[in-house]
Amino acid sequence: MIISHFPKCVAVFALLALSVGALDTFIAAVYEHAVILPNRTETPVSKEEALLLMNKNIDVLEKAVKLAAKQQGAHIIVTPEDGIYGWIFTRESIYPYLEDIPDPGVNWIPCRDPWRFGNTPVQQRLSCLAKDNSVYVVANIGDKKPCNASDSQCPPDGRYQYNTDVVFDSQGKLVARYHKYNLFAPEIQFDFPKDSELVTFDTPFGKFGIFTCFDIFSHDPAVVVVDEFQVDSILYPTAWYNTLPLLSAVPFHSAWAKAMGVNLLAANTHNTSMHMTGSGIYAPEAVKVYHYDMETESGQLLLSELKSRPRREPTYPAAVDWHAYASSVKPFSSEQSDFPGMIYFDEFTFTKLKRNTGNYTACQKDLCCHLTYKMSEKRTDEVYALGAFDGLHTVEGQYYLQICTLLKCQTTDLETCGEPVGSAFTKFEDFSLSGTFGTRYVFPQIILSGSQLVPERHYEISRDGRLRSRSGAPLPVLVMALYGRVFEKDPPRLGQGSGKFQ
Ligand SMILES: *[C@@H]1O[C@H](CO)[C@@H](O)[C@H](O)[C@H]1NC(C)=O
Ligand SMILES: *[C@@H]1O[C@H](CO)[C@@H](O)[C@H](O)[C@H]1NC(C)=O
Ligand SMILES: *[C@@H]1O[C@H](CO)[C@@H](O)[C@H](O)[C@H]1NC(C)=O
Ligand SMILES: *[C@@H]1O[C@H](CO)[C@@H](O)[C@H](O)[C@H]1NC(C)=O
Repeated sequence: MIISHFPKCVAVFALLALSVGALDTFIAAVYEHAVILPNRTETPVSKEEALLLMNKNIDVLEKAVKLAAKQQGAHIIVTPEDGIYGWIFTRESIYPYLEDIPDPGVNWIPCRDPWRFGNTPVQQRLSCLAKDNSVYVVANIGDKKPCNASDSQCPPDGRYQYNTDVVFDSQGKLVARYHKYNLFAPEIQFDFPKDSELVTFDTPFGKFGIFTCFDIFSHDPAVVVVDEFQVDSILYPTAWYNTLPLLSAVPFHSAWAKAMGVNLLAANTHNTSMHMTGSGIYAPEAVKVYHYDMETESGQLLLSELKSRPRREPTYPAAVDWHAYASSVKPFSSEQSDFPGMIYFDEFTFTKLKRNTGNYTACQKDLCCHLTYKMSEKRTDEVYALGAFDGLHTVEGQYYLQICTLLKCQTTDLETCGEPVGSAFTKFEDFSLSGTFGTRYVFPQIILSGSQLVPERHYEISRDGRLRSRSGAPLPVLVMALYGRVFEKDPPRLGQGSGKFQ
């Protein structure tokens, strides 16, 4: 658990920052929330019961908002997906929790004008939280929109139901509404919006985009708001179920922020039996603060100062050519023998690292992954493998991947390579991992024993596409990966399937 990165000087920065119009920096907050779940979700409860439950959660969020804004000077706070009513509903049982959320173009401050769009107590309360504490508040709630037979796609119950992010500015005004585009399979309570909404808004501390959880795997809207709308920061409510080796919240989200060159404010739900933990504030050049806690059932507030417009900073990372180095070298040939192994339903081509130092290449289809490494010692009780995957992932959504990974196998039996494992004793003093990627969207991650991240000073991403050690400090690597997304090979739409993220 890492909670020690709270900037001691936030209050000072906030005072300085408030004295000018456009802010060079701002204080970001995210709250990992242990959601108070409804007693039952399989059958509908009354509207009163639903509101009672939602108010219990908002009571907790309110404490976090006050602490962040009043005591720590936060400008914006993000709360998690499903953070106000939980998960696992049917269409009917979520209905009492939904409100009609208008288009922000209507210019509405629910705290001032609560009845303008019918009975909307949750929006009123969130708006008042923002207004009373002078802070932008980001939350995830459910929207309902009536429809009828004049719309051929109108569901039989006569309404659309959307998983929705809302943002209230520091005056309490609704400034953004985003309907989650890439629903995860178990979210049967919600409808897919017809089109991907590209929601952005300007603030004195930069331009913001917003999307939700599983959207992060997609081109629309995640990549579009960054590449085409050039946002500075992303607001990211999520309900993310960690699955090692490659899909753990903190490593994956921080890698995405790094690769896309934006700030990412990621707020996860907290429920250890569901493996939901891992929130953070990530800048393009560094992880600012993160929280990963499988020990307690408590929520956690995180705060950090961020640059409002990171693209203008001298520290902004240069673009990486993820193909350059790997395609300039000949595959390393050694006495290696390849074997197959599964990671999250994808069959990788692995090769075992046989000595304490070496050069290896693993290839699959168009992707060859090169690894040069040096371990402090080659332990007999731990086995590492280099793996390559180039193909369409087809479980819980269809998306095309190219991945190079170095990982510790669960046991010394090669059949366990790719299975989750929590700790490692082998230390790597040197490493360089690269691949012949056919995409510029490659998310680089390194996870150490105990699911810890590596401080930035210990590695670098070279412009020619190598993930390299740089300090010589021995690191207990559990897994490192270059996780590439090849969007042009995706089938038309993400989203259908069966699985675990929400
Ligand atoms: C859930 O059940 C418990 C115990 O019966 C009760 O105290 C609590 O108020 C209920 N929660 C909600 C939101 O109805
Ligand atoms: C239902 O259909 C009528 C006529 O086609 C239309 O005028 C009306 O706005 C529709 N209502 C809703 C809720 O979509
Ligand atoms: C975590 O989520 C599960 C599944 O929804 C639930 O049964 C359990 O009570 C939750 N744990 C806590 C501490 O809320
Ligand atoms: C790995 O390759 C590099 C250069 O390509 C070479 O200097 C080094 O000796 C090789 N290491 C091993 C263990 O073969």
